[in-house]
Amino acid sequence: MKLLVINGPNLNMLGIREKDIYGRETYEDLVRFIKDCCEKRKVQVEVFQSNHEGAIVDRIQKAYGHFDGIVINPAAYTHTSIAILDALKAVCLPAAEVHLSDIYAREPFRHISYPGMACRASFIGKGFAGYEQAVDFLMEEIEKGK
Ligand code: DQA
Repeated sequence: MKLLVINGPNLNMLGIREKDIYGRETYEDLVRFIKDCCEKRKVQVEVFQSNHEGAIVDRIQKAYGHFDGIVINPAAYTHTSIAILDALKAVCLPAAEVHLSDIYAREPFRHISYPGMACRASFIGKGFAGYEQAVDFLMEEIEKGK
């Protein structure tokens, strides 16, 4: 099984940005956490981060035929990007959305998730653990779909 994990803009600034919201752990810590989770479960994983909407759309399109599922934290594009929503719909891979913070407890403009509309589940406000739960969820979904 092969999963693609996509992280959107400013997540590369974890450990520096708004520590009261996102914590003190760095992006490298997050990547290590995701890779460890996948290794334990014998899941192959690629972790991709970009600050550019088009690059994320390109990465989703290229996943078609190469990955079994997508874990995505679109970061700020969550609340604006119909292009990412459409890319997820186009490739039709099982997808799960993750947010480190509880977007529903924050400003009203964070309460809508466009890419979330193409995801089978959302893991919100659980910090790094949300990625682990998303991996477990997708493993089950992909197994069921076989
Ligand atoms: C985020 C929440 C978004 O609203 C924000 O723009 C981010 C990170 C999260 O993981 O909590 O950059 O997706």
